[in-house]
Amino acid sequence: MTLVEVQSLVKRYGTLRVLDGVSFSLEKGIHGLIGPNGAGKTTTLKVLLGLTNADEGVVKVFGLDVSKESSRILERVGVLHENPRLPGWATGLQFLRYVASLKPGSSNEDIMSVAKIADIDYALERTIGTYSAGMTQRIGFAAALIGDPELVFLDEPTANLDPLGRIDVWNRILELHKERGASFLISTHALFELEKVCQTIVILHRGKVLDQGTVETLTGKYSVHEYVLHVDHPSFLKERLEKSGTVKNVELRHDKLVVSVQNPEAFFQELSQLVRNRDFHLMDVESSKFTLEDIFVVAFRRKMEQ
Ligand SMILES: Nc1ncnc2c1ncn2[C@@H]1O[C@H](COP(=O)(O)OP(=O)(O)O)[C@@H](O)[C@H]1O
Ligand SMILES: [Mg+2]
Repeated sequence: MTLVEVQSLVKRYGTLRVLDGVSFSLEKGIHGLIGPNGAGKTTTLKVLLGLTNADEGVVKVFGLDVSKESSRILERVGVLHENPRLPGWATGLQFLRYVASLKPGSSNEDIMSVAKIADIDYALERTIGTYSAGMTQRIGFAAALIGDPELVFLDEPTANLDPLGRIDVWNRILELHKERGASFLISTHALFELEKVCQTIVILHRGKVLDQGTVETLTGKYSVHEYVLHVDHPSFLKERLEKSGTVKNVELRHDKLVVSVQNPEAFFQELSQLVRNRDFHLMDVESSKFTLEDIFVVAFRRKMEQ
């Protein structure tokens, strides 16, 4: 079943087209909405939740039109807003109970279970006003999981967490997907974190979709493989490789050669031929990892060149 369907969505604030013809659709799974600040991620999530109206386009969640049936949608989703403003006077427990009262069929055990999942169960008796930013984020995450939602929207869920806390939250998301079948749409500008958990990614930039697809497809499409070669005569090899058809770019960096290639197989064939000719001695080859961050940069550059 298609969980989320967005077609030609336009959202204006005054004269500004904050979302300018956004289209994407998502099946069950873990999905990322990525892009720099101001790209329109939060606005997209708000439209999906019926918190703000679309000016044009069709937006459906679970096949239901958000402009007509947002209350039926809200019963089945969980949300963690960006910089959630939570009641500082309430204890964590009071807050989670309040959220549970809005979700039909959730029990006291659910509250304890989500608090454990979000790793905030130890602080439920304290008022939220005394929580650190990371703890506030965690109680918000717990609240988003109440009622066993089919789809959870998380807007910058790791924004206030330390590195270990971040890894922990991503692991919890993966577990929830495996064990309960929950789907997620996660917005973030910290791209490198998403590649480990997301199946598909939608890249937003200034209100437009730059590209979308599975992490593998996007990596395949945009990746340039980069290798660092440790050799005894780097400038000699640099000259040889510059004449070669298999290398896109060669650079000398601190006595090492950094080469970018589009087709690693052809490159390594040529390299092994050179090694066999004993023109130089190859000590080591490191491969530098191509990340979502790189995908974003390359996708963005290509768009600008069009
Ligand atoms: N309520 C609002 N009124 C006017 N402009 C807004 C409002 N909310 C967001 N914007 C503008 O819309 C653009 C997209 O914002 P947002 O969706 O928050 O981006 P992101 O979440 O990707 O950082 C920004 O230029 C922002 O200033
Ligand atoms: Mg945002």
